[in-house]
Amino acid sequence: MPQRPYVIDVMISAKSIAARIEALAREIHREYAGTDKLVVVGLLRGSFVFIADLVRELDLPVEVDFLEASSYGDGMESSREVRILKDLRGQIEGRDVLVVEDIVDTGHTLAKVTEYLKTRKPARLKTIALLDKPSRREVPFRADWIGFEIPDEFVVGYGIDFAQRNRNLPHIGKVRFTDGA
Ligand code: IMP
Ligand code: MG
Repeated sequence: MPQRPYVIDVMISAKSIAARIEALAREIHREYAGTDKLVVVGLLRGSFVFIADLVRELDLPVEVDFLEASSYGDGMESSREVRILKDLRGQIEGRDVLVVEDIVDTGHTLAKVTEYLKTRKPARLKTIALLDKPSRREVPFRADWIGFEIPDEFVVGYGIDFAQRNRNLPHIGKVRFTDGA
């Protein structure tokens, strides 16, 4: 299917993202102060910029690992069926695990991923998502920390893609089609 023409309107500036991440890092710091068991798990690929900025704000001993779950493909609709495509490299039994996600949309991905990770018996399992679209939820899921609540718009940038493009934008933008369809 040929790509429809679109432009990207800025929704959240790079500066606002940085300020919000600083505040989130302070809360996370408080939560995990004193632990040397923290493993921060980024969900590939959308969280790669967020996790990089977040962990650099944490003055804690922290391990970084990644997990890849099946995603949207090249479309704009969730597949709803979540599969683990790439598993963690490290052990998380008895560890404090913080899962880092780009967006909570229908909720299927984080609901399934956390259910899966719980079978590995972490000491604590918490979640943080940069963006949350609560109006889109199909299964009840609440992340422990959220960067920004946003309306039902398709967004890109700061790690988040549309058909694998635009992950390198420093801000969050919303996709606006220009062909009027
Ligand atoms: P969920 O399983 O529906 O909650 O979907 C979560 C995943 O869908 C996120 O990790 C994103 O990869 C993707 N997603 C949800 N909304 C958007 C969007 O607006 N732009 C790009 N990807 C999105
Ligand atoms: Mg994703």
